[in-house]
Amino acid sequence: MFPDHRPRRLRTTPAMRRLVGETSLEPRHLVLPMFVADDIATPRPISSLPGVVQHTPDSLLAAAEEAVEAGVGGLMLFGVPGHRDAVGSGADDPDGVLNQALAALRAEFGDDTVLMADTCLDEFTDHGHCGVLSVDANGRQRVDNDATLQRYVDMALAQAEAGAHVLGPSGMMDGQVGAIRAALDAAGFRHTSILAYSAKYASALYGPFREAVGSTLVGDRKTYQQDPGNRRESLREVSLDLAEGADMVMVKPATMYLDVLREVAEISDVPVAAYQVSGEYAMICAAAEKGWIDQDAMVLESLTSIRRAGADIVLTYWAADAAARLLR
Ligand code: PBG
Repeated sequence: MFPDHRPRRLRTTPAMRRLVGETSLEPRHLVLPMFVADDIATPRPISSLPGVVQHTPDSLLAAAEEAVEAGVGGLMLFGVPGHRDAVGSGADDPDGVLNQALAALRAEFGDDTVLMADTCLDEFTDHGHCGVLSVDANGRQRVDNDATLQRYVDMALAQAEAGAHVLGPSGMMDGQVGAIRAALDAAGFRHTSILAYSAKYASALYGPFREAVGSTLVGDRKTYQQDPGNRRESLREVSLDLAEGADMVMVKPATMYLDVLREVAEISDVPVAAYQVSGEYAMICAAAEKGWIDQDAMVLESLTSIRRAGADIVLTYWAADAAARLLR
């Protein structure tokens, strides 16, 4: 004990702290989520996500170039279609906004970055749910799990065809990873990977994202996304996704679920991702705007904390900015 043991010795200089630092944060660990929209002539700011925009196809390419230059590990694409319908037809239309953008980015970057696509229907359905609806035996409208799987398969094939390296099924339907894996393999896309949104909670932190994609959702996603109070259930979801062939698994949101992330990292034998979602980003921006916290410091601290908890990969709207700062 003291005075023999003085932990402060290892904190004396920046060089010493650097030498003994336990958690690294590098550009390659960061993935940038991006939005591309139909029917806009110029990039459209998202008021609840300062600095994040809905891109036009041109501005998407320029921003992607900047992010890749800064060394980010990959890009995760979301589409904001001009037209929506009950089954989300735009999702598997090769001329749809998301598939067109994927094709353009793949043509531009080839294999120089990892191109990821959100494989979910919510941006494409007029009711805003992550799946298709049907009426059950009691006359209630429900998100129909198995009918949705067929739509995910169609969407996955279109995205693989368009050039995505990684598909991100984020709709929390049972069996989604296995259904997509089987369809990809049958169509010859054996090397297209699946990043499974395994433990995804029904969180209030998605609020700004819903503005970002112009969501029409009324109600909530509690029949498919998880109850925030559940921990064991996440381990079950991760185990099922691993058994279905997930190449990577994800916990989402990140900061308020670091305990879950830690446990998932302990059982996973594949890389673990965590998504610092829109609400996490917005809260930090709002506090910084008021002058109550130092944004630059907070961003790196939050990302480092997510890494410390066990994330190999962090999806964050700050990916390009943080990567550029880490390079300096
Ligand atoms: C749904 C989806 C959501 C996010 C990404 N894909 C959540 C939702 O609307 O329930 C949220 C991402 C964020 O908040 O940054 N496919």
